[in-house]
Order: sequence, then C-alpha cells, then structure tokens
Amino acid sequence: MSIKKTLVLFVFISFLYSCESKEYTAKIPQIIPIPNSKTINQGYFLLENSIGISYDDTFKISGDFLRKYLQQQNHITITNDNNIQLLLDDTIKNPEGYKLDIQPDNIIISAKTDQGAFYAVQTLRQLLPAEFENGSISAENNFSIPCITIIDAPQFKYRGMHLDVARHTFSVEFIKQYIDAIAMLKMNTFHWHLTDDQGWRIEIKKYPKLQEIAAYRNETLIGHYSDQPHQFDGKRYGEFYTQEQVKAIVAYAKSQHITIIPEIEMPGHAQAAISAYPNLGCTGKQIDVAQKWGVFDHIYCSKDETFEFLEDVLDEVVALFPSEYIHIGGDEAPKTNWKTCEQCQNRIKTEGLKDEHELQNYFITRIEKYLNLKGKQIIGWDEILEGGLAPNATVMSWRGTKGAVEAAQQKHHVIMTPTSHCYFDYYQSTNTNEPTAIGGFLPLEKVYDFKPIPSGLTTEEQQYILGAQGNLWTEYIPTEDQVEYMIFPRILAMSEVVWSKNENKNYSNFVKRVEHFNTRLDVLDINYANHLYEIEGELISEDNKNNYKLSTIFNDKTIYYTLDESPVNLFSHRYTKPIPITKSTNIKAAVFDTEKRLGSIFFETIQYHKAVGKTITINKTPHKSYSGSGPEGLINGISGSDSRYGDKEWLGFWEEDLEIVIDLGEEMAINSIETRFYNGQGQWIYAPKNIRAYFDDGSSAKINFSESDDLLITAKFVNNNGLIKGLKTRYIKLKIPNYGTIPDDKQGAGQKAWTFIDEIIIN
Ligand code: ACM
Ligand code: ZN
Repeated sequence: MSIKKTLVLFVFISFLYSCESKEYTAKIPQIIPIPNSKTINQGYFLLENSIGISYDDTFKISGDFLRKYLQQQNHITITNDNNIQLLLDDTIKNPEGYKLDIQPDNIIISAKTDQGAFYAVQTLRQLLPAEFENGSISAENNFSIPCITIIDAPQFKYRGMHLDVARHTFSVEFIKQYIDAIAMLKMNTFHWHLTDDQGWRIEIKKYPKLQEIAAYRNETLIGHYSDQPHQFDGKRYGEFYTQEQVKAIVAYAKSQHITIIPEIEMPGHAQAAISAYPNLGCTGKQIDVAQKWGVFDHIYCSKDETFEFLEDVLDEVVALFPSEYIHIGGDEAPKTNWKTCEQCQNRIKTEGLKDEHELQNYFITRIEKYLNLKGKQIIGWDEILEGGLAPNATVMSWRGTKGAVEAAQQKHHVIMTPTSHCYFDYYQSTNTNEPTAIGGFLPLEKVYDFKPIPSGLTTEEQQYILGAQGNLWTEYIPTEDQVEYMIFPRILAMSEVVWSKNENKNYSNFVKRVEHFNTRLDVLDINYANHLYEIEGELISEDNKNNYKLSTIFNDKTIYYTLDESPVNLFSHRYTKPIPITKSTNIKAAVFDTEKRLGSIFFETIQYHKAVGKTITINKTPHKSYSGSGPEGLINGISGSDSRYGDKEWLGFWEEDLEIVIDLGEEMAINSIETRFYNGQGQWIYAPKNIRAYFDDGSSAKINFSESDDLLITAKFVNNNGLIKGLKTRYIKLKIPNYGTIPDDKQGAGQKAWTFIDEIIIN
C-alpha cells in the first residue's frame, strides 16, 4: 500500500470513528416543508466522491435530477452501483408521496410515481450541506447523512405560486429560477400571469400588434399610486416571451414536475390588448397601454369579433401549455363601458340576460365551452361567481373566503389565495425601511397560520378545496432581486401550509428551520427578507397599570432597550420584564446574541392619553383577518402604520356600521378626540362619509368627510369642531357608518367597502 493510500485509509477510518463516537441525535434534520413523519435511526450514510444511483425510466425525472445534482454540480462520480435506489412502491397511497430510507449502506427512495420520488430527492437535498447547492465544497471531504426514515405526502393536491410578468417582466433565466424555487419546496404549480393592462407578454403569431404595441408601455408611474400628483419615468418599458421561449420554460418546468397554468385575462385587465386592436373594446377608441396601476374601464366588448380574437389567442396558448387548466382571469372588470355599448346591450337582450353581471357570466361561459371542447378546464378569479358560475369552472378565491365557500357549496373546485394570507406583494414587516409595497401587511407568521380549508363547509364540500397559492403581483416589484425578497421567506411558510400536516406545524420550530434554510439561500444566491430577529411589542393594561412587553421568537437570544436618545447596544438595559409606562415614551430595542445585534432596531412611540388602558367596546367583531390586537388596540397609545393597514394597530371591518364606546372610568374634561381611517381604495377600503360622537350630557358632535383619494383620513373633534368647550364626560360613543356600496366610478365598484380604524386619541 502506498503512503498516499495508507493516509487516505487513515483519514477515512478516523472520519468513521468520529462519526461513531458522536451522539446520533446530534443532527436533527431541518426540512421545509416539514415531513409527515421521520424516525432517526442509528448511524450515518457516508457520501463519498463516487456513488451509484440506480433507477429505471419510471423515475427518469427524479433520477436524472439527483444524478445531475451530484455529478455536474458537485463533481461526484456516478457509478453503476446501487448505493442510492429509486424503487416503485404501489402501496403508497398518495401519488405524490414517498418514503426515504437512509441506512448506513444505502439510500432507498420508494414512490408510486416519478413525482413522489422527485419530492424524496428534494428532501434528500436538504439533508446535504448547503454548499452542495453551488458545489463550493469538495465532495472529496466525504459527507455523512444521518440515518433516517421519512414517510411523507402532501396535504393538498394544488400547491402553487403565481407571478405577474405584465406589470414588470423578468428574464427567461429568472423564470426558470422561480420554477426551481417552487420545485425545491415541493410545490407543483406555477401560475403565470401573462397579460394585463400594462403589457401583453406572450407571443401570439396571428396578432403581431400584440408584440409590436401591446407588449410595450410608453412610461411607468414612479413611486406609490397614492403619492399625488402622479409622476412618470418617461421610459418605454416592455418585452414579451416568444413562443420558443415559452416552450423552453414549459419543458423546463416539466423537468421539475411543475405544471404551468397560463393566465390570459378577460374580460377586464385587457387595456394592452385593446390598445393594439381598438376594435376589441366597446368604444373602438385608440387607447394606450396603461402606464399606472389600478382597474380600468377599457374591457373587452362582448361582440363576436372579440370572441374570435380570444379563441384564436387561446388556440395558440393551448398548443403551448400541456396544463389541464387555463386561467381566464375574470376579476375586476368594471361594467361602465358595457352599460353604454350598443353591442353589449344587444347581447344582453338577445341572450335574455338580466344585466351586465349576467353578461360577464355569458362571456366566461362562452369561453369555457370553447376551452372544454379543446379538452381544457378554466380557472377564474372569484368574480366569476357573479351572475352565475360557468358550469365546470374552478374558482380562485382571492377576495377573502366567501367565494370559496359559495363555489364549494356549488360543487366547484376551489384554489385558495385570499389577500389576507396569500398576497406576497404586501409588506412583510412594519419596519419603515422596507421597500415600497402595494400596502397591506402580511408577515411570515400570518402566512404560516393560514388554513386553506375555510370554515362553513361540510366534510364533503371540503373535498373541493384543491389547495392554495402565494400570489406575487409586481406593480411595485421592478427587479428580480425584489421578487426573491418578497417571496422568501413567505414561500417557505406557504410550502408548509399546503404540504405539511397541521399537527406537525409549529411556528417557533418553523422559524428555527427558516434560520437554517437561509444558509442554503445564501449559497443559492437567492435574496430573502430576514425579519426573524424583529421584536414584538405589546402594551399590557391591568389594574389601571400599563406595561410594555417586548418579545422575540428566539428564547436563546437577548433583548436590550433604551428609553432615551442613547443607541441600543450590549450596554443598554437588558430586557427581563415588561416596562412600566406612565407617560408618553419612546422605546428602542433590538435582539442580540452574545456578541452582536442581529436584527434591525425596533422603535415604538407610546402616546400616553386619557383613554390608554381604559375600557372599550365595539358592537361588531373585527374581521378575523384584520383583528389587530383587538378593540383594546384602539386605546393602547400606539398608532397604526401609515402604509400597512394590516398591522396590529388597525382594525378592519367589512360592510359594518360601527358603534364604539370608551369608558374612561370616571368623568374627565375632554379637549379633543382624534382618530384615523385608512382609505386604500385599491383594496376597497374607504373612509366613512361621516362620524358622530355622543357624550354623557346628551350632547353630540358630527364630522362630515368630503370624498378624497388621500390614503389616510384624520377625524378630529376639537372645541371649534363640534365639541362643546369645557365638556366633561365618562363615556364617549362613536358612531361610524360604513362607506356603503362602492360606486361605479371607483375601485371595487359594486363591492361593500371596508372600514379600517386606528388609535382613538383622547386628550
Ligand atoms: C386580483 O388580485 N385582482 C386577482
Ligand atoms: Zn361592448
């Protein structure tokens, strides 16, 4: 034996020896989404720099994936041995399920389908060092994988991610990376939103103007829609995916067991197409591809010519996408133009329809029939319920869960994407340095808590809920880096929502796995948001005393804080118990390990006023998705975010008139009462038209609001605004009527409005 070989043997033996002497439970696998069951056994499988993988054609995709991962990426020599075997097991019930059995001498993957085996491979991947993702450590090191048996299968059949490429568009390479991310997390569907008012992104050979005109807008809104006056960047923007590119992406998705569902929007969100072919609209007028965000009146006319166009378009789309489903949109189609269009009104008459809503149903049903004949099924946003549901349609429920319940009760399939838990274009932190987002607030924990089955369904009806999906609308997401930032880590939570068993889910365990997963994302060079080390703050009022509680999800880390101008560091106050609050206070705090600050600095202003910690009652319960920190949150001295109505300080109510009573405990002199209403009309949140205050002495005061596009509406009762000078009262009652049904010329026309209210400050 040469010296070199002896040395190798020595290193090998000492490596084995060091494994033997280790605690076998030392390395707890941190897999996302968490598997159904895992048993850790004694010993390790040693992955050396040559290994055999055996599989037949049944497992072509999963086997090839694993081979490529080890061979091309990590330069491991693949032999004809069977150290890793992919085996058919017909007894596994779920076609997407698998068993992964890692033994000291071999790794056995059993599955009923290639797809199941593919998910076993994704699990195995997470048992290997993160550096395997880019081949940055040499496999010559030999790696040990703990012996473990995992038996796993998804809870939901439909596990998706959506991406809007109309508002902003992304390279073919990036779309493939997006698919990689979906597949890595055992999701199986990519919903590709290809057409909208601001751009048409798929080549349709029969209609060249879609490429020449509809794929480009002359300029784009700068900043947020609510920043007035609107300003534009003056830059032409756009591109489209050629059919060759689409084919390549579809093939790539197939190699990762991902189905792509293309979305061709109709009858609304069609301004780009109408700008290319004005005859498709009701007015025939030449219009531009939209340059700002929102909902537009230029929708497809219901004349035959439009259907000919759409059928031609769908012919080409169907030929490109093997998916069983085609998404036809159906959302946010204002009926303004249909109401005054002779041809649409004619259609209503000749078809015996009641109104424009039934015309929408006619539109969708006619398209459905066409697609059904081609062997395809349609999916539409939940507006397709209005005016009757097309016979075979699947509903994508986004405006809460009401549409889901209705559809399932009508025995239609449903995919859950409610804005409250699935809109990854919302803010994920209340930190003010977050990049501009559309609004709302959807932190990681809220995604994680999502339960796809809505309440109010029988066991039989629940079967119609196919699964859920995260949506990424890209109005405010111009770059690929930012797409990643908005989906990571929320996609990790969603993967667990749709894959894992409820009883295996636990948020504090999940965040530790996220912390671990982030090292993999670092190696993959995927950008992600990291708010794991953010602090939660809460005012606790008990026995007339107010204390402010700080917390972090990590119990092995420490919070330090200051109440003055000094910076927060390891020499600040160490937080051990809630901080007494007796006056207006600014709190700065951060999470530290033993050496350094980990997250960003938490900052809270508590405005101490007469109602803080007193008693409040509201005649209605806040909507369950927007219940903030409950009614008490309206008198905790903390105002809501200026841009995130979904945070803990705003309360949201849908279609309800409110009566709020505050009991100050004793009669007090009152000089002012102030509160704020959110007015995010794009989300159908409208400030009320008036509010009224009532006092012990029978006096009352009223404030009327004029219509405004401002995002925040302040209501302030002061001495010269209805409030009687020298007023003394113990009780204050506020009556806040809901805005009512949203009129035709506004966003969310025909819907009932939301009311969002913030801190009620009494001085
Ligand atoms: C949607 O968000 N308009 C479906
Ligand atoms: Zn028309």
